[in-house]
Amino acid sequence: MREINASIPFDKALWSQDIAASKAHVTMLGAQNIVTAEDAATISKGLDQVAAEYASNGVPEDWDLEDIHMTTESRLAELIGPVAGRLHTARSRNDQVATDFRLWVRQSFDDLDAGLLALQHALVARADEHVASIMPGFTHLQTAQPVTMGHHLLAYYEMIARDRSRINDARRRMNESPLGSAALAGTGFPIDRQATSDVLGFDRPTANSLDAVSDRDFALDYLMAAAQCSLHLSRLAEEFIIWASQPFGFVRLPDTLSTGSSIMPQKKNPDAAELVRGHAGRIIGAATALMVTMKGLPLAYSKDMQDDKPPVFEAAGLLALSIAAMTGMVADSQFNTQRMRQAAELGYATATDLADWLVTEADIPFREAHHITGAVVKLAETEGLSLDQIPLAKLQEIDQRIDERVFAALSVDASVAARSSYGGTAPSQVQSQVERAKAQLAKERT
Ligand code: ARG
Repeated sequence: MREINASIPFDKALWSQDIAASKAHVTMLGAQNIVTAEDAATISKGLDQVAAEYASNGVPEDWDLEDIHMTTESRLAELIGPVAGRLHTARSRNDQVATDFRLWVRQSFDDLDAGLLALQHALVARADEHVASIMPGFTHLQTAQPVTMGHHLLAYYEMIARDRSRINDARRRMNESPLGSAALAGTGFPIDRQATSDVLGFDRPTANSLDAVSDRDFALDYLMAAAQCSLHLSRLAEEFIIWASQPFGFVRLPDTLSTGSSIMPQKKNPDAAELVRGHAGRIIGAATALMVTMKGLPLAYSKDMQDDKPPVFEAAGLLALSIAAMTGMVADSQFNTQRMRQAAELGYATATDLADWLVTEADIPFREAHHITGAVVKLAETEGLSLDQIPLAKLQEIDQRIDERVFAALSVDASVAARSSYGGTAPSQVQSQVERAKAQLAKERT
């Protein structure tokens, strides 16, 4: 029982939240004359001393004391004597743990948001640098159309913006104080829930005590936001892994974020990116774990809920590392723009431009233009030429409506420049999206 029951090995991470919530509680008990002002002051000072001990020596792990709440109360009693027993008036470990954990998750939302903001800054800075750098754009990982590197990086800026929006929604929703819900039914003591809520920085007390002690939606919101964010980071990591491979050669990863092989001296492995990709699996697993833990629980608290913390702690740690790794990778990688341009020039990436040209300049219906372009690409393949290397005469054999103006449309530069629709890949459009992103980020500093 001792072994299965103990949560102190992991919930000791809540110690500072536990102290803060206990201090808020006892101050309120004093103000409401539920305990004397003198006892409240003694308890509060004692809690400060326990906190100081934890800060310098760590939290002792005595499994008989089960969790951080009992550990703190027991140490408090050693320090100040039986008056320590008045701290737990009008509360239960059920509202206590719900409060502590909310405070911890709230801080994690804020830390996560700050990390993602830094990643957005890195993405925008590199996008700004590469507004006009040309690379192949892919669908099905087949060369589709030329795009600009800045455009590609800003796609991730948008994903991270949605992650941050999700985080901020969830944080707003979860910022209610469970403290004072007691075991499940509330309490007969004349407590002031608004006061403890205010001191702990919550927007308001929770409205239903049964819900308050059994709700872990805030942790699930955190994990689901974390899972989706990790999925975005994993996709970005995968791009770096592909780009850094020798056949691609689009990017040289920072030495600080890669490793050598113990046997093959030429190798530089994208380990950090691969671990970000791997961590996404564990973070998604953590979200699944807590959903499954919660799904069958009747109201109110059940001990299953003690298992809420390890997945959240694990996900938070892994995600923080993943964000730091991807921020460094984005900021410090060297992009081989020449190689990317070459890759875009191969693979008939401007075939769509030929079709579009036939539509605009020769008034050919798009489906027919698509067909003609297919014949041109086939010819280019058999002759081993890029589209702009095919002699005009040969093009005219396929369709005599093609004239020499077509060559201007077949370069990768013309191709990207033409795609200036809102949100498109043209350098002009990407530059204005960079400016929009910069303005958004600048607004946040205030
Ligand atoms: N260690 C417990 C947890 O983490 C604290 C709450 C215990 N409450 C109870 N009634 N046993 O969930």
